Order: sequence, then C-alpha cells, then structure tokens
Amino acid sequence: MRLDAYLARAGLASRRESRMLIRRGAVWVDGEICRDAARRIHGEEVVVGDEPVESPAEVRDFILNKPVGVSCSNDQREAPLVFDLLASSLRNRSLLIAGRLDRATSGLLVLTTDGDLVHRLTHPARKLPKRYRIEYDGELAENSVECCREGLLLVGEDRPTRPADLELDAKGCATLVLREGRTHQVRRMIRLLGGEVLALHRDRVGALDLPQDLAPGELRPLDREERALLLSDNSL
Ligand code: URA
Repeated sequence: MRLDAYLARAGLASRRESRMLIRRGAVWVDGEICRDAARRIHGEEVVVGDEPVESPAEVRDFILNKPVGVSCSNDQREAPLVFDLLASSLRNRSLLIAGRLDRATSGLLVLTTDGDLVHRLTHPARKLPKRYRIEYDGELAENSVECCREGLLLVGEDRPTRPADLELDAKGCATLVLREGRTHQVRRMIRLLGGEVLALHRDRVGALDLPQDLAPGELRPLDREERALLLSDNSL
C-alpha cells in the first residue's frame, strides 16, 4: 500500500492531509524521514511525530469529536452524517457507532468494526459511565441531584432511569453521569427537572476523556491504552 493511503486508512488524516504531512517531513519509515507519498509499505515501521502508526489492517477502533449538526444515522436523507466526516478509505470499512449522540450533541463518539466493543460500551447491564456537560435554561428543581440519584420516570416509560450523578456547576451549567443510554435521555431528564438543554457535550466514556487536541470533526485511531480506559469505570 502507498504511504499516503497507509496513513489515511489508519485514520490519521485524509489522503490529501497525509500527503502534506509526508511533504513536510513529518513521516518516518524505518527510522528515516520519507517524503515520497508513493512509497510502498510492506510491514515497515511508520512513525508520525513521535507516534508509531498502527497498520491500517489492525486499526478497528476510532475516536471522533463529533461536531454539532451532524447525524449518527446511516440514512443520507439525514445528511450531513458522521460517516461523511470520514476519509473515503474509511467509509467502506463498515464502521459501527458505539453509543449514538443526537444531531445537536457534540463530543466523544466511538466508531469501530468490532461488534463486541459496541456491545460492551452500550449494554445497560455493563453500567459504563458516560459524562455529559450541559448548558440549560430555566431553574432545576431543588432536589434534582437526589431525583437523579434515585431515578426519574421519564414521560412514556414504565421503568425509572438508573441512578445518575448530577452536579450543578455555575448557573445554567451542570454535569450528568449516566450509566445507560435511552433516547434523548439527558434532554428528557433535564426537562423533567424543570430546565431545557441549550447545549450538550459528551466529554468522557468509561475512564477515557475526549482528548484536548482532537478538534471538532477530527477522528483518530484509539490506541490499546485508550481502549482499556474506555472500558473501565473506576474513575467516576
Ligand atoms: N442524551 C441526550 O439527550 N442526547 C444525547 O445525544 C446523548 C444523551
């Protein structure tokens, strides 16, 4: 595979951006800077900056900073879609979204070819914590924190929500940690408590924080350590 395609397929950058990285001398192949985008890679070590690039064949999990305004659907009628943000080489990799976000929600989204990872991240029995930063309008009920801890009966449902941790931050700002994922759950919980969500951002799943250097719309492979953090819930 050509070096520029190798970087793009590993999810590091688009093909065009990969060529720019190569031209800038940021890409090393077996210990030497390589400025030839057409160089064929057959098992050599590829490094960008200080980071070894995993072989694209092995990369199965990606983290995306989802921007507001894109849909997690597969249906082009709902475009723009999260899948439209991916390099074309990744679009035909049958990536699954592990734990969708609303169109109006931003933040940490995991895409993977691994159905088992989707299950482990989303199955309610696993109770994996997901943290949401909320900006809201209105006044929340005085006992909101207790209500979330005890569970809320959402409109149209017959089972209360699982215990969730609500923290009231500055006025109009709150943090909510959920251990399940019902449709529009944060928005519905805040509405029941007397507020209206203005902005919603997921910044942590399991023990993995959304990396500070991942700009909205950017995607990159998850390394092994990050994957382990994603599946661990010891820090919330
Ligand atoms: N809760 C919501 O209301 N929306 C999301 O996107 C995620 C959680």
